[in-house]
Amino acid sequence: MRPLFSDTPWFGGDYNPEQWPEAVWDEDVELMRRAGVNLVTVGVFAWSLLEPEEGRYEFGWLDSVLDLLHDNGVKVDLATATAAPPPWLSRRYPESLPVTVDGVRLSPGSRQGYCPSSPVYRRSAARLTRVLAERYGSHPAVVMWHVNNEYGCHVARCYCDESAAAFRRWLTAKYDTIGALNEAWGTAFWSQSYSSFDEILPPRATAAYPNPTQSLDFERFSSDEMLACFLEEKAILREVTPDIPVTTNFMGLFRGADYWRWAEHVDVISDDLYPDPADPDAARGSALARDLMRSLGRGRPWILMEQSPSAVNTRPSNAPKPPGQMRALSYQALARGADGILFFQWRQSASGAEKFHSAMVPHAGTDTRIWREIEQLGSELKSLGEVMGARVQAQAALVFDWDSWWAIEQQGLPATSSYRALVARWHAALTEAGLTVDLTRGDEDLTGYPIVIVPSLFVTTDAQAAAIDAAARAGSSVLVTDQTGIVDENLRVRLGGYLGELQSTLGVWIEEFWPLAGAWVRPGAIPVSPESTVPPTVSVCGSLFADGSATGVEWSETVHVRQAEVVAAFDGGPLDGWPALTRNVRGNGSAWYLATRLGQDDMAAIVRQLIAESGLEVRRPDSGRDGGFVESVQRGDTLFVINHGTAAVTLAIPGTDVLSGGAASGMTLEPNGVAAVVAEVVQASSAS
Ligand code: GLA
Repeated sequence: MRPLFSDTPWFGGDYNPEQWPEAVWDEDVELMRRAGVNLVTVGVFAWSLLEPEEGRYEFGWLDSVLDLLHDNGVKVDLATATAAPPPWLSRRYPESLPVTVDGVRLSPGSRQGYCPSSPVYRRSAARLTRVLAERYGSHPAVVMWHVNNEYGCHVARCYCDESAAAFRRWLTAKYDTIGALNEAWGTAFWSQSYSSFDEILPPRATAAYPNPTQSLDFERFSSDEMLACFLEEKAILREVTPDIPVTTNFMGLFRGADYWRWAEHVDVISDDLYPDPADPDAARGSALARDLMRSLGRGRPWILMEQSPSAVNTRPSNAPKPPGQMRALSYQALARGADGILFFQWRQSASGAEKFHSAMVPHAGTDTRIWREIEQLGSELKSLGEVMGARVQAQAALVFDWDSWWAIEQQGLPATSSYRALVARWHAALTEAGLTVDLTRGDEDLTGYPIVIVPSLFVTTDAQAAAIDAAARAGSSVLVTDQTGIVDENLRVRLGGYLGELQSTLGVWIEEFWPLAGAWVRPGAIPVSPESTVPPTVSVCGSLFADGSATGVEWSETVHVRQAEVVAAFDGGPLDGWPALTRNVRGNGSAWYLATRLGQDDMAAIVRQLIAESGLEVRRPDSGRDGGFVESVQRGDTLFVINHGTAAVTLAIPGTDVLSGGAASGMTLEPNGVAAVVAEVVQASSAS
């Protein structure tokens, strides 16, 4: 297969020339040249123009566009255009439209109006893919295939009869016998025993909670079903154009698709991410998503396929990115392993559903802040060839798994939790401490990581428990937090005290859950009244915390110690005196257990302990960071320092900033400022 990446970062965006008269196209390529654009994604939503009637194609406009781009040195990531079926498809085959959990069949007139299990959708998408591959596979501009678009973005689950039939086929392949399914799903409860696979439906709207394992299997099935759509198109592309790499754009931490299962099938990992400029923590969240993308590709370079130059039009109120933020977030992606920075979209639409979404060429034209920032970034990226292909070295692994995500957010649990928030907080704590973090499903070799964090791995498989234990034995400092090891992959409780196999790793077992009444529920939730019998927080005493005390929120539980040291204990409340934080010596390493959830400062105190005991040396690149999140990431020989905070910081590291050409030491980084620091060339000299 042809390599996609070279020694210049990709720079560009979604290019939708079909929205514009041809007269605009010449100006487009002229402006692309000025901005340094070298890659555009073409045709993502062009199905209805490419195939205006079933089996009748019109390629003239796309021929011209690809030739024009090629003549101007712009490469193309060519879409298979299958994300938005044309009106004729749903008119002729209404059964191809998706159905919601409540049984409502969605109407055409928007996008993504298809059921992933629909045979007619699949057939039509495959036919279009083949025709496009045969026509454009040898076009010199085409360097990558872009299958569909953001699978599951709007319709991640379909509950129609076709989906039900596909679900039954998936279950039959998985369980083989109905007896095995009944056993796995625990159908003896609530009179749910099935006599045949034919009786099974998707978990449509029900009177009370649906069967939890049925729901989890439906999540898995739905992710697999979208993946099957991707694989069908990919197989055609491979057959016709074996040399051209294939991507499909992911959406950061997207709940609807298990990207660990997808990643091995995608030649180039690519991601779409739209951090909210109004959210002061947005850069922390995007750092996590970038680390996930690098980890999905096992460290290989990936592409930021879409981001907005400024505002989006998808939120109730859409803040623009302030000056410099688009640049700072672009460098964040580059620092965390991206070899390409692209946008949605090239030219801001004058009509249609996304006309108020910002673009590289804004409504007001090129005498604009956005355009100047685009030009600046395009020009700067050319000087960052050294970074291309370079690896990012992580010191910590963070376990993140879709099964636990789906399971811990079901109904009928001890408390409501946001898995994403639980994982994000630990990622932020590690990142703030100056560590770089790889994400992992947790069932692979973790022994190389000095620090391993396992937040709320509700579903813990034997393989995960074994890998976590092996990491501790080999010398890692492992921290496991509450709600780990509760159930197996069929959601069957691990009996005999929670934590399952991890009891011997951690030297503790859990008897009972005591969620705190002030538990985080959903944003905007009303806090419980202060008179509640269950307190909203609990004090935790331990000398590692500032002033010897921390505040536990959301969760507490009764922890029995078999052989661990109690590092901190609950102070007051129903669990007064019980262990809250424990540490067990395990082989060459340690295994910590945290039985509550903490604020950032208290999490930082624990991370400092893990860093200290693992002997890691973490150097801060700046002299102080009172104004928020300053991230530093080493990629190859370049240390990126990015100030996402609200106050300026001064760098205190040797080396040269390749962006400004100046010395790094003493350099001031204003909010949204970026430095890309390489070490000064040290002349070898003989000791005298
Ligand atoms: C997604 C889609 C794009 C566009 C953007 C807008 O990422 O892939 O087509 O709708 O959102 O933010």
